[in-house]
Amino acid sequence: MKSGCPLRVLAIESSCDESAVAVLDEARGLLAHEIFSQVDLHRVYGGVVPELASRDHTRRLLPLMRSALEKAGTTPAELSAIAYTAGPGLVGALLTGAALGASLAYALGVPAVPVHHLEGHLLAPLLEDEVPPFPHLALLVSGGHTMLIQVDAPGQYRLLGETRDDAAGEAFDKSAKLLGLPYPGGPELARLAGQGRPDAFDFPRPMLDRPGFEFSFSGLKTAVMLAARGAPLTDERRADIASSVQEAIVDTLVGKALRAMDQTHLRDLVVAGGVGANQLLRERLGRQVRRRGGRLYFPRLEFCTDNAAMIAVAGLMRLKRGDVAPDLAVQARAQWPLANELTTTG
Ligand code: KG4
Ligand code: ZN
Repeated sequence: MKSGCPLRVLAIESSCDESAVAVLDEARGLLAHEIFSQVDLHRVYGGVVPELASRDHTRRLLPLMRSALEKAGTTPAELSAIAYTAGPGLVGALLTGAALGASLAYALGVPAVPVHHLEGHLLAPLLEDEVPPFPHLALLVSGGHTMLIQVDAPGQYRLLGETRDDAAGEAFDKSAKLLGLPYPGGPELARLAGQGRPDAFDFPRPMLDRPGFEFSFSGLKTAVMLAARGAPLTDERRADIASSVQEAIVDTLVGKALRAMDQTHLRDLVVAGGVGANQLLRERLGRQVRRRGGRLYFPRLEFCTDNAAMIAVAGLMRLKRGDVAPDLAVQARAQWPLANELTTTG
């Protein structure tokens, strides 16, 4: 590692269907971030096709890297480390970025930093001007995870509760599919919800009446399916179902997040992950958190969903604490047990 000058990290994200590269400088901040979304490639299949995702990452990553380096005005020789998403995610997709990251690090003689994708989401708010103070609470809501986490410091996380089954993003996506909306369903459902009545259907608020911080969203899709099939699916009925399901998901997330604030006495809340882009969730959470004298922090919209800037932040933090790859092995894990990264309470 070069001593004396600020650290500069190049990061690669390829865990699912976004190919992304970013360059972050310890002193100057984010210098460049490039992203290519494969959404058009997968749309016809109604979901991500893993093999197609891997192949497309191999096509996209090198041009994205060249472009990121150029926009950052930096040469590979000026990089202190290469961070890459090592999991969790689609293993073939992960391998494309991991192999590139590990070999580039080897060629440059700098450390490779395997990064936990969720840590990237958790630390994404550090890319903004207003940085959340530590400790704080985080509601991590993505396509694969729904978690309430106490963030004591970068690298020190306590899992308060998570979903027993479907993630919040999955609940959005599956409901959207039942309503015949195009992939990716979450943002489409949110858009349609704006035209409907949030109280038209009384969908379940799973686990909200139970103590603790666990979530469960799998029952919601059955309720949505019954509502969608219960009568002719007019445009009005579709919008009403969309609005009511969004209301049920947001209600549940907000209810549990506020309960965690009350119990931990932490007043600052971060909302991160793809579902954190949901406008209703942000508004509702923001209002309630302010009412409790706290503050809501979230990454800008483009850093809520998958990107490499967040991997660069998490990678820089790991580099600073010396948490780098111990050898030349390429690390790619479909499952990365959170127990290794997060301390569970209880
Ligand atoms: O974090 P992310 O980009 O990928 C994962 O790591 O999972 O999250 C993607 C999820 C998808 O389920 C997508 O439908 C959802 O985030 N999402 C939204 C919105 N934007 C993205 N859900 C609700 N409202 C949105 N505006
Ligand atoms: Zn993600």
